[in-house]
Amino acid sequence: MKKFLALLTFIYVIVFFLILYLSDKEYSQEKKFKYVGVKECAICHESEEIGAQSKIWEKSLHAKAFVTLASDRALEQAREAGVDVHPQDSEKCLKCHIAGAGLDESHFAETYKKEEGITCEVCHGPGSVYKDVCKLKDREKFLANGGIVPDEKICLKCHDEPSFTFKEKFREIRHPVPKNK
Ligand code: HEC
Ligand code: HEC
Ligand code: HEC
Ligand code: HEC
Repeated sequence: MKKFLALLTFIYVIVFFLILYLSDKEYSQEKKFKYVGVKECAICHESEEIGAQSKIWEKSLHAKAFVTLASDRALEQAREAGVDVHPQDSEKCLKCHIAGAGLDESHFAETYKKEEGITCEVCHGPGSVYKDVCKLKDREKFLANGGIVPDEKICLKCHDEPSFTFKEKFREIRHPVPKNK
């Protein structure tokens, strides 16, 4: 009987710590990587030396994706789609027109702005942690801290237009590091 009780206590203790471990893990993962916005990347990535990625992005339509949702064309499209709020407030439209659509506040740093539209972080992952390590040019560290090296799959999440071909469309937005050109 004593042995049985000891075993029972042992099991309780294990389960208790397991639950504690799992809930803590979930909690920390939720907030680990936050969206910080383009300005936090531009601090370094506007430099011509590494390819001025933020300047190239600024000129792309991705930078206007939120603003676009206030155009006459957008209002018309929203009406046709049966959206009864302003497109800039509709999850149905924001889904493909801003970064981190639908996520709760814990995923965003104070510097995040939805007005920036389709930002670096839509394709490269939320950057609160890797922004401090990507300069090391260590691919493994970049990936381990939430960084993503995107391919065609990421585009297809939003670009369902039949005319979309990765090769052609990526050429329009590419932003290489000069030494990799
Ligand atoms: C402190 C400066 C700095 C900041 C801030 C910064 N980066 Fe970087 N990043 C660099 C440098 C330097 C490189 C390496 C460029 C090279 O290969 O010469 C780099 C590399 C990268 C790469 C290529 C990684 C790979 O392995 O292919 C990506 C993608 C990237 N940065 C995205 C971002 C994004 C998005 C942000 C903002 C969330 C950001 N960076 C913020 C300096 C920075
Ligand atoms: C599945 C992703 C997705 C959703 C959801 C989405 N869009 Fe878009 N939208 C895109 C993409 C990709 C483009 C750029 C390619 C193109 O022009 O077809 C775009 C372009 C646009 C444009 C500019 C081009 C044009 O057609 O004049 C407007 C305006 C627009 N969307 C409005 C809306 C509105 C309003 C909603 C909500 C009712 C919405 N979008 C929902 C992906 C989406
Ligand atoms: C619409 C998606 C998208 C957006 C937005 C985007 N990128 Fe990229 N980026 C890519 C793709 C795709 C690649 C190529 C990945 C590969 O090396 O195969 C890439 C590559 C890079 C590289 C590596 C280039 C090289 O030559 O090694 C850097 C650095 C980078 N991006 C930084 C940024 C920064 C900074 C921003 C925002 C100012 C940004 N990207 C916005 C999709 C995007
Ligand atoms: C989260 C949604 C989203 C993702 C992911 C995305 N885009 Fe876009 N893209 C858009 C929207 C929305 C527009 C239109 C913005 C506007 O007109 O204001 C657009 C516009 C464009 C345009 C200019 C219009 C056109 O159709 O020629 C190009 C080029 C483009 N995207 C290429 C890419 C490529 C390449 C990738 C993947 C590396 C990608 N996009 C990933 C949403 C997205």
